Amino acid sequence: MQQAFRASIFHCLGDPGPHGDATAVEHIEDGVLVVDDGHVTRIGPADEVLPSLEAGAALEDCSGKLIVPGLIDCHVHSSQVDIIASYGEQLLDWLNKYAYPAEMRFVDEEHARAVAEFFLDELLHNGTTTAAVFATVHPQSADALFAAAEARNMRVIAGKVLMDQNCPVELRDDPESGYAESKTLIEKWHGRGRLGYAITPRFALTSSEAQLEAAGRLAAEHPDAWVHTHLAENQEEVDEIGRQFAWSRSYLDVYDHFGLLRERSLFAHCLHLDTADRALMAEKGGAGAFCPTSNLFLGSGLFDLQAMADAGVRVGLATDVGGGTSMSMLRTMSEAYKMLHLQGQSLPASRALYLATLGAAKALYLDEFVGNFEPGKEADFVVLDPEGSQITARRAAAAETLDELLFSLIFLGDDRNIAATYVMGRISGDGL
Ligand code: GUN
Ligand code: ZN
Repeated sequence: MQQAFRASIFHCLGDPGPHGDATAVEHIEDGVLVVDDGHVTRIGPADEVLPSLEAGAALEDCSGKLIVPGLIDCHVHSSQVDIIASYGEQLLDWLNKYAYPAEMRFVDEEHARAVAEFFLDELLHNGTTTAAVFATVHPQSADALFAAAEARNMRVIAGKVLMDQNCPVELRDDPESGYAESKTLIEKWHGRGRLGYAITPRFALTSSEAQLEAAGRLAAEHPDAWVHTHLAENQEEVDEIGRQFAWSRSYLDVYDHFGLLRERSLFAHCLHLDTADRALMAEKGGAGAFCPTSNLFLGSGLFDLQAMADAGVRVGLATDVGGGTSMSMLRTMSEAYKMLHLQGQSLPASRALYLATLGAAKALYLDEFVGNFEPGKEADFVVLDPEGSQITARRAAAAETLDELLFSLIFLGDDRNIAATYVMGRISGDGL
């Protein structure tokens, strides 16, 4: 069935960079997005596209609104929605006090199912259609997440967490059970519909060398699966890594040593890296997830986007809920702007959107499928409504350019401005 959506349409063709290169984006003021069988087949100006639609095409008039590609959250914990915004600690204490107790509850399959549904609905409600997600150590938490994602036809990369030391005993697997359970989950879910599996060692502190070695073996046996972990988030953590892996040159070197740095390896945070680390990450095809709300909330440090981009590392934006404080990629973009501003770096609206769409898709090696409206890609998109709240409506009325409008929506917008989220051409969510 052919569908057509008329609106102002904006997407990225490449990285607009720190100066907002206009040739890296496409904006069609009065445009039409054409979708056939869930895939984009054309975008163009309304006066050109409308006459060419099939006779039976379903035309949705979203005039006055802005259509952008579905947002992509490169790193988030489904199990932490109940402890988002928990007061007062830095990473290691925060994990012990809030994250680990919340994750223990996922031994209960019913709880895992209920949270997975809430979590994915909340993503969609915020315009996020693709996400790379940490479940918990319990295989049933990954099963629940994949099942709920499949029911919504979302692109979700997820995995059962591997952790066998330096954490509560209730949350420990062991090198053999973690390997076997991950393997079973890969066979069940990886490549099924829009789902992908990520081998998910939590971070090097919570895995023994035997477990990291087993994770590396899995990564070698499944080169098209993802590797998803945390890297160099907090100085205390980095110092502890230096003691635990005294033989290593750096934190990243630990993962590299065990075969966990390769294409489709995704590292959340990447705050305390040096030039050699960034060069190695770029050379091996690893990607960094930039988690500004989390880094500011946990007092972890500042992400150096310029250094990562100069080194040629793939970077995508991420909420890192529940260390992160918002499910909204709009809010996340605005915090990214502030964090970069503090370092004398700029983030134009177009690049902020790039980091949450095409840039994120490249970081996840999914740009063949999602990230912009190139014909052939899956039709995941968001209808942004500048009139969603009084303040955005007022600010939008005063905006003279698309850049100005987009920037104001990034800073002032929230889920009230997400008029609809479409997953492969189908509107999703309750009441959207
Ligand atoms: N490092 C290891 N585990 C976690 C986690 O759950 N959240 C964050 N922000 N960092 C981590
Ligand atoms: Zn995280």
